[in-house]
Amino acid sequence: MNHKVLDKNSHREITNLFTSVFTSSEGEKEGRLIGNLASELSSGIDNQEIICFGTYEEESIIAAIFFTRLRFNEAIQVYMLAPVAVSTRHQGKGVGQALINYGLYEITKRSAVVVITYGDPSFYFKVGFQTLSENVIQAPLKLSMPEGWLGQSLSKEPIPTINERPKCVKEFNDPVYW
Ligand SMILES: CC(C)(COP(=O)(O)OP(=O)(O)OC[C@H]1O[C@@H](n2cnc3c(N)ncnc32)[C@H](O)[C@@H]1OP(=O)(O)O)[C@@H](O)C(=O)NCCC(=O)NCCS
Repeated sequence: MNHKVLDKNSHREITNLFTSVFTSSEGEKEGRLIGNLASELSSGIDNQEIICFGTYEEESIIAAIFFTRLRFNEAIQVYMLAPVAVSTRHQGKGVGQALINYGLYEITKRSAVVVITYGDPSFYFKVGFQTLSENVIQAPLKLSMPEGWLGQSLSKEPIPTINERPKCVKEFNDPVYW
C-alpha cells in the first residue's frame, strides 16, 4: 500500500472510486452526486486550490481524499478536507485514517495552518479533528448539520478566530453539499 499526490491524469479512476463507494454506502443518487463532485474536483487539481491524494494497492486506487482552499481576505492558509472515499472492500482496516494522516502531513509541509472538514465527528475525531464553532471559522455556505463542522490546527497555535465568511472553490459552491 502506498500514498501518492494525484494529478488530473487520475481523473477517471478518482471519479469511478467516489461513484462506486458512495453508491454502495448511500445509494445511487448520492453516488451520482459525489461522483460528479469528484469528477469536477479532479479535473481542477492544481496542487494549490485543489489537492488530491490517493492510496494504491498493486497499481489500483483504493482510497482518495481532496483538500480544497478556503479563501479569506487575510492571507491565512486554510484547507477543507472533503470528500473522502475508501473502496468498500478496504473499509474498516485503517486505510482512511492512514491516508488522511498522510494528507495532513503533506499540506502542513505546504504551509497550511488550519484544516476543516464537514462530516461524521465519530470518524474525524480519530484523525485529530474537533468540533468547530462558526464563531471561530464560518462555513462558506449555510450548514444543514452544524455539528459536523470540524477543525484542527496544523501549527502549535490554536485555531484563530476569523471574522469573515470564506469562499470555497467553485466546485463546492452549491447548497446541495452543505
Ligand atoms: C468513512 C471512511 C472514509 C472511513 O475510512 P476507513 O478506512 O473505512 O476507516 P478506518 O479503518 O481508517 O477507521 C475505522 C474507524 O472509523 C470508524 N468509521 C468507519 N467508517 C465510519 C463512518 N462512515 N462513520 C463513522 N465512523 C466510521 C469505525 O468505527 C472505526 O473505528 P474503530 O477503529 O474504533 O472501530 C470509509 O469507510 C468510507 O469511504 N465510507 C463511505 C464514504 C464516506 O462515508 N465518506 C466519508 C464522508 S465524505
